[in-house]
Amino acid sequence: MPMIRECIVTTLNEEGRVHIAPLGLIAEPLVADGEGWIIAPFRPSATLDNLRATPFAVANFIDDVLIFAGCLTGNKDWPVWASTHVPGAVLEAALSHAELAVDHVEEDELRPRFHCRVVHEAMHAPFKGFNRAQAAVIEAAILATRLHMLPREKIERELAYLQIAVEKTAGAREHAAWRLLVEKIEDHYKHAPPA
Ligand SMILES: Cc1cc2nc3c(=O)[nH]c(=O)nc-3n(C[C@H](O)[C@H](O)[C@H](O)COP(=O)(O)O)c2cc1C
Repeated sequence: MPMIRECIVTTLNEEGRVHIAPLGLIAEPLVADGEGWIIAPFRPSATLDNLRATPFAVANFIDDVLIFAGCLTGNKDWPVWASTHVPGAVLEAALSHAELAVDHVEEDELRPRFHCRVVHEAMHAPFKGFNRAQAAVIEAAILATRLHMLPREKIERELAYLQIAVEKTAGAREHAAWRLLVEKIEDHYKHAPPA
C-alpha cells in the first residue's frame, strides 16, 4: 500500500468559491516530474465536482486537529489566503502547503483518482513534533465519517482506546476537537434505530 498523508484539501467550484475538506493524499512518485499526489474523492462530493470544474487543489499540512473536527461537524469557515501558483486557497493554519495541478484522472464508479503534479511548495511554521492526542483525533475523525459502514461496537471500542491518548497528552485544541467528534458520534446513535 502507498503512503497516505492526511491533510486539508482546498478546491474551487466553478464560481471560484473555496471548498475545504479533510482528505488523505496518496503518495505517487511520478516518473518524470518528482513527487506527486493522488486525490481520491468518493462520489458524490463537492471536492470531486470542484476538481472537474477547476483542476487544481491545495494540500494544507496542518497540526491543528480542530480544523479536521470542525470540517466534519459543519464548521468550514477557516481563514485562507490566495495560493500563488495555481487558482486556490491556502489555510492560514498550514504549517506547509503544496499547490497541485491535476495531470490526469483515473475514472472509477466509486472513487475516481485525480493524479496531481506538485507545482509549488512552501513552509510557513515549524512542525513541533508528534502528539498522540492529535493522532487520536485524526483516527476518531475517520471513524466519524464511517458510522454508516462500521458496527457501533467497533466504533465505541476504538473510541475508548483513543480516548486514553487524549486524556494523557491533549492540549486545549485537541480536547475541543475530541469533544466535537464524540458529540457527533453520540448524536448519530441517538437518532439511529436500535441495533
Ligand atoms: C482524515 C480524513 C481523511 C479523509 N480522506 C478522504 C478521502 O481520501 N476521500 C474522500 O472522499 N473522503 C475522505 N474523507 C472524508 C471527507 O472529508 C468528507 O466526506 C468530506 O465531507 C468530503 O466531502 P466534500 O468534498 O463533499 O466536502 C476523509 C476524512 C478524514 C477525517
